[in-house]
Amino acid sequence: MEAAQKYILDNKDRFLNELFELIRIPSVSADSAYNADVARCADLVAKNLIEAGADNVEVCKTEGHPIVYGEKIINPSLPTVLVYGHYDVQPADPIDLWDTPPFEPTIKITEVHPQGAIFARGSCDDKGQMFMHVKAFEAMNKTHSLPCNVKFMIEGEEECGSSNLGPFCRANKERLKADIVLISDTSVIANDCPSIDCGLRGLSYLEVEVTGPNRDLHSGVYGGAVANPINVLAKMIASLHDENNHITIDGFYDNVLELTEEERTALNLAPFSESDYCKDLNIEAVYGEAGYTTIERTGVRPTLDCNGIWGGYIGEGSKTVLPSKAFAKISMRLVPHQTQEEITEKFTHHFMKIAPQGVRVEVRPHHGGNPVVTPTDSKAYKAASDAMEKTYGKKPIPTRGGGSIPIVAMFESDLGLKSVLMGFGLDSDALHSPNEHYGLFNYYKGIETIPYFFENFAQ
Ligand code: BES
Ligand code: MN
Ligand code: MN
Repeated sequence: MEAAQKYILDNKDRFLNELFELIRIPSVSADSAYNADVARCADLVAKNLIEAGADNVEVCKTEGHPIVYGEKIINPSLPTVLVYGHYDVQPADPIDLWDTPPFEPTIKITEVHPQGAIFARGSCDDKGQMFMHVKAFEAMNKTHSLPCNVKFMIEGEEECGSSNLGPFCRANKERLKADIVLISDTSVIANDCPSIDCGLRGLSYLEVEVTGPNRDLHSGVYGGAVANPINVLAKMIASLHDENNHITIDGFYDNVLELTEEERTALNLAPFSESDYCKDLNIEAVYGEAGYTTIERTGVRPTLDCNGIWGGYIGEGSKTVLPSKAFAKISMRLVPHQTQEEITEKFTHHFMKIAPQGVRVEVRPHHGGNPVVTPTDSKAYKAASDAMEKTYGKKPIPTRGGGSIPIVAMFESDLGLKSVLMGFGLDSDALHSPNEHYGLFNYYKGIETIPYFFENFAQ
């Protein structure tokens, strides 16, 4: 173990330069204009795995973007860790709001990251975090201190729904046999307050289309006498929350697992400063479901949000028009024991029901996934907790992640594998936003911690 840690220190600068190379490739999975870049990025991940010493490295073709696989089996009778991560990134838009180019990694010091942070799309989510595993593996392998078997499955479609990963896993059950899935794609509370997410919310994402008259109309000639799809859609969306910010969809909360008072108390023990939270976001107050704290609202309560809304005239100047159509994208975050299927069905039913006469409504489901809870009393959780305690000098607090990694529920249902979410980012690292960044402290802390996880888990 000492040898591996020394190797990490000796190769610090190269580990950073190699991450920079990966970040410079704009592997935006949602936009087909970047398909060639996504493919190039997969090849570079594979190259790094080979150079780190992985065997049977393969860039596996799918109907979408490739999945990179690699492994090191030192002894089949030892435990096996399956590392999952993603090399694809969110679109960089709106580009104008970036202070430095999104795909040119730039190190800047911030209040939260006094040792500097790498500003670039994907630096935290998930290239920086995924790459820590490749480098930690390299360090263990090159110093002959890998204590158990490892398999890597790094995908290129996480940010657009992982639609080909399920079929890939089901077709490769034997190859993916493991004892645990290890994932770094979540956050810690703060750099001086380590934590481990023990659950992720699920997701139902859909698009709605409201159609009124058969063509755009003069808003003076027809306005007031014909349903305006934008007015109607805005009213329908507004009605999805009541005055307490509860969601009004029939049966929406039917299967929601309510936490016990003890569980709620434990969850709220995590340090949280509402004023810092508001200050970071430049808002005067938080806003959400009555009766729950911010930690609960983002961790264990389901939500509904409009992610985009459009229709009518949005060009320069004005155009007096009553549009024929209006659209919105809507996401719902799900908690145990809601399912994507159930909630998509309930939303669709409710939304059709509340549509007034004079418009037609269509609901088109997109991707999604089910929520997961990972155990805190397992050998794997303890291995992660002890590893972080060793490198941070503090025992990590078990928390709940508000985001979704839809494939984690599938690992459990289809491969029978539990996951450990040992993430190293910060929620304030601007994931999916302009000026995404990842602390140098966090990158190196991850690389340092991962070998201890392997050591603990192998024992
Ligand atoms: N890494 C995130 C999920 C995440 C972030 C979990 C922070 C916990 C804390 C992941 O890449 C992501 O963005 N997932 C998407 C879902 C996907 C289907 C687009 C999400 O949560 O919106
Ligand atoms: Mn991610
Ligand atoms: Mn993401």
